[in-house]
Amino acid sequence: MAGRSAVGFLLVAALLGFLQTAASFQVKDSEGKLCLSANFSMRFTVEFVTKSSKKQNASFILPTEASVMNVSSCGNKLKPEEILVVGFGKGHSLNMTFEKKETSRYVASALVFKFNLNDSLLFPNSTGGELTEEMERTDIQADLNTKYMCHSNKSITAEKVSVFLSNVAIEAYVTNGTLSKKETICSEDKGPTISPVITTQLPTHIPSTTVVTTTSVPPSLKPEVGHYSVNGSSGMCLLASMGLQLNLTYSAPNKTVLSKVLNIPPNAVSSGKCDNSTVTLNLSSGSTNISLHFAQNSSTEKYFLHGIRITADLPSEATEKNISVANNSLSALKATIGKSYKCVAEEIIQVSNKAALNIYNVQVQAFKISGFKFGAVEECQLDENNMLIPIVVGAALAGLVLIVLIAYLIGRKRSHAGYQTI
Ligand SMILES: *[C@@H]1O[C@H](CO)[C@@H](O)[C@H](O)[C@H]1NC(C)=O
Ligand SMILES: *[C@@H]1O[C@H](CO)[C@@H](O)[C@H](O)[C@H]1NC(C)=O
Ligand SMILES: *[C@@H]1O[C@H](CO)[C@@H](O)[C@H](O)[C@H]1NC(C)=O
Ligand SMILES: *[C@@H]1O[C@H](CO)[C@@H](O)[C@H](O)[C@H]1NC(C)=O
Ligand SMILES: *[C@@H]1O[C@H](CO)[C@@H](O)[C@H](O)[C@H]1NC(C)=O
Ligand SMILES: *[C@@H]1O[C@H](CO)[C@@H](O)[C@H](O)[C@H]1NC(C)=O
Ligand SMILES: *[C@@H]1O[C@H](CO)[C@@H](O)[C@H](O)[C@H]1NC(C)=O
Ligand SMILES: *[C@@H]1O[C@H](CO)[C@@H](O)[C@H](O)[C@H]1NC(C)=O
Ligand SMILES: *[C@@H]1O[C@H](CO)[C@@H](O)[C@H](O)[C@H]1NC(C)=O
Ligand SMILES: *[C@@H]1O[C@H](CO)[C@@H](O)[C@H](O)[C@H]1NC(C)=O
Ligand SMILES: *[C@@H]1O[C@H](CO)[C@@H](O)[C@H](O)[C@H]1NC(C)=O
Ligand SMILES: *[C@@H]1O[C@H](CO)[C@@H](O)[C@H](O)[C@H]1NC(C)=O
Repeated sequence: MAGRSAVGFLLVAALLGFLQTAASFQVKDSEGKLCLSANFSMRFTVEFVTKSSKKQNASFILPTEASVMNVSSCGNKLKPEEILVVGFGKGHSLNMTFEKKETSRYVASALVFKFNLNDSLLFPNSTGGELTEEMERTDIQADLNTKYMCHSNKSITAEKVSVFLSNVAIEAYVTNGTLSKKETICSEDKGPTISPVITTQLPTHIPSTTVVTTTSVPPSLKPEVGHYSVNGSSGMCLLASMGLQLNLTYSAPNKTVLSKVLNIPPNAVSSGKCDNSTVTLNLSSGSTNISLHFAQNSSTEKYFLHGIRITADLPSEATEKNISVANNSLSALKATIGKSYKCVAEEIIQVSNKAALNIYNVQVQAFKISGFKFGAVEECQLDENNMLIPIVVGAALAGLVLIVLIAYLIGRKRSHAGYQTI
């Protein structure tokens, strides 16, 4: 087995060139003006099934003769995204989609890989067919009018495909057909202090001899705010705008404990249901599913988030393939019925010792909503505390001024008295 795949690998390596040099791709608009330039090296590992129904991994690099396909496109008013489609070998392709975000940044919002498993050169003894995998939300993003630069190796993993990207230089939304001289350096290149080490030790199940090492997982970016609503037979029962992020903790076979931070995209598929005692919001994006259950306490006239269920795939290096956790004894995001709960500060809701839901910039209202819009705001404690700081500082300053004034007055009186005794 090992010998066979080694021979296959050498064959592929010899054919495609072993040296991993960055390939260079350019996309131009109909007038021939450059809109997207991308240089990178890529190594793929693809799992496929052989004729003897065994799973096998093929590993190969993006060959230098890979070329831009004519379905690539520049952004325009009607279709703002820019798409780079690169084809190589016998019908393999990769599709990288860029979008503008927050008016000042661009982001590689999706990566789609297509492999023709009939290609016996890359997939020896494969049962054939086509494999398509999509990776949503890369952390490739940069300020507009700058080049995104990243020399470090970055690994991106989906179910059957994982890729190593390196020597990346990309500029999307190129202005006037000329590449910018300014650069946005990726956090991995800036050194270990910028990319935080996300390695922790689980409180249970792990022997105290666990080796805890540092792994440079890309730093999590704040999730974008998504807008969700749920309608029932008697009108709207949930209205929410919030940025959601999952923080999943898992262990690798060598007992290292790692965590993966996953942003829920604002275009996640949402559904839900309303009934007299609970309001449910379900969000799903790829293999990730989150359910939020709100309950109400009619005696106190309050509603709150009482249950969270999370299922998600874990990265390939985890000992378990996926995670599924639930907690139905929460009391978060609590507000008065008819009013909305609001919190600008990040809230971390621990669902289990393996998963937390981080909520950013939330405004939510469940059960009674009139006019399809948020009712009066009830601010969260964290925000109130934040507002308290300037008040406290102001009061302290006023106090200080008063003390100085009193001291001055007393001092003046004393020295006055002193003169009189002489
Ligand atoms: C293929 O590689 C992935 C990780 O890159 C691994 O999880 C998987 O078990 C490998 N499959 C086989 C058949 O070796
Ligand atoms: C794109 O390329 C294909 C063949 O590779 C060709 O049939 C098609 O006409 C081309 N389309 C455009 C718009 O150039
Ligand atoms: C590339 O991906 C984008 C979005 O993921 C999609 O809109 C587009 O049709 C894809 N293009 C090709 C040629 O696969
Ligand atoms: C793979 O081969 C089969 C049969 O040989 C054929 O039906 C199929 O269309 C091929 N798929 C691709 C993507 O070339
Ligand atoms: C393909 O499978 C056949 C038998 O199923 C085996 O004899 C042959 O060695 C295999 N070839 C490779 C490259 O794995
Ligand atoms: C990236 O990984 C390749 C092997 O996949 C290795 O040869 C190279 O040195 C690595 N580069 C960096 C900057 O870590
Ligand atoms: C990509 O490489 C080409 C040729 O080496 C170079 O002209 C171009 O500036 C590079 N693109 C980026 C975004 O750095
Ligand atoms: C782009 O070109 C236009 C006219 O050719 C010019 O007015 C503008 O300043 C240029 N913008 C940049 C960023 O170079
Ligand atoms: C619920 O109804 C309101 C008003 O008709 C509408 O704006 C909103 O999009 C609906 N939400 C869903 C999830 O259908
Ligand atoms: C994710 O969880 C780990 C362990 O609980 C923690 O150390 C880390 O700071 C968390 N990261 C985020 C972005 O919440
Ligand atoms: C919900 O409340 C309404 C009126 O208060 C009642 O008619 C209905 O049967 C209740 N439904 C459930 C499922 O309890
Ligand atoms: C343990 O495994 C993880 C994931 O495969 C890896 O990143 C880490 O470097 C390994 N640590 C040790 C001490 O081998």
